[in-house]
Amino acid sequence: MREAGRRVADTLTTLSAMVRPGVTTGDLNEAAGARIRELGGTPSFFGYVVDRKRYPANICVSVDEEVVHGIPGRCVHGRREVPDRALREGQVVSIDCGVIFEGWQGDSAVTLPVGQVSAEVLDLLEVCRSALWAGLRTLRPGSRLSDLAGAIEGTVRDAARGSGRDYGLVEDFVGHGIGRALHEPPQVPNYVSRELRRSDLVLQPGVVLAVEPMVNLGSKRVRTLRDGWTVVTKDGAPSAHFEHTVAVTEEGFEVLTLRADGSATH
Ligand code: MF3
Ligand code: CO
Repeated sequence: MREAGRRVADTLTTLSAMVRPGVTTGDLNEAAGARIRELGGTPSFFGYVVDRKRYPANICVSVDEEVVHGIPGRCVHGRREVPDRALREGQVVSIDCGVIFEGWQGDSAVTLPVGQVSAEVLDLLEVCRSALWAGLRTLRPGSRLSDLAGAIEGTVRDAARGSGRDYGLVEDFVGHGIGRALHEPPQVPNYVSRELRRSDLVLQPGVVLAVEPMVNLGSKRVRTLRDGWTVVTKDGAPSAHFEHTVAVTEEGFEVLTLRADGSATH
């Protein structure tokens, strides 16, 4: 899974370097397919079926108020080709990438500014990124899923208090176990609920999770567009999404979606 994760990080590095005003979501999708294959992997999202719908692209590209599962341009979805869209200065773009390598999965996402963006939106990205890492740092033998969720939720709550801003932590989508399949049990919520406390899991070395908080600059409420995939904020406010694939180890945790030199893309 380290090998798969490394290829995800390498691909995200290539794509991140392309992000600037004028680049299209279709450009990112095609570059992702080319890079993943060059690395000997397969894009795991392409053709992946959720609720009897097939995902039509190599990656998810979600712009501004799009939270997750945005479909990049020039992909054929249903009978239609999705219109291509150029990124514009001031937007944010989330790129979510999954790779299968020798039968094992890696999954990671990063949200990037396009050119210059407002301080408020830059802060949003940092809140979401730091919530992800606060969650990852709870992982060790004997830690619980509710510890991970509590750390993510606490980071977002403290950031909202400290700044006076509304940060909506999305509840309708969760992280997941990952291994030979992209989505395996358990579900990995980003907030603590009675439900989570009731079904809480004690983690052990060898467990591998994809942890993926989504934070909106406004309400936590989201809805899915008529294309059946694209999830957007109900209030139209921008959203951030960060994800890593992580293993629980004897020592604590190991992020698997790192570059070959061990550095993190995000
Ligand atoms: N990281 C996302 C997830 O785990 C990406 C899945 S896109 C899909 O849900 F098309 F594969 F569903
Ligand atoms: Co995922």
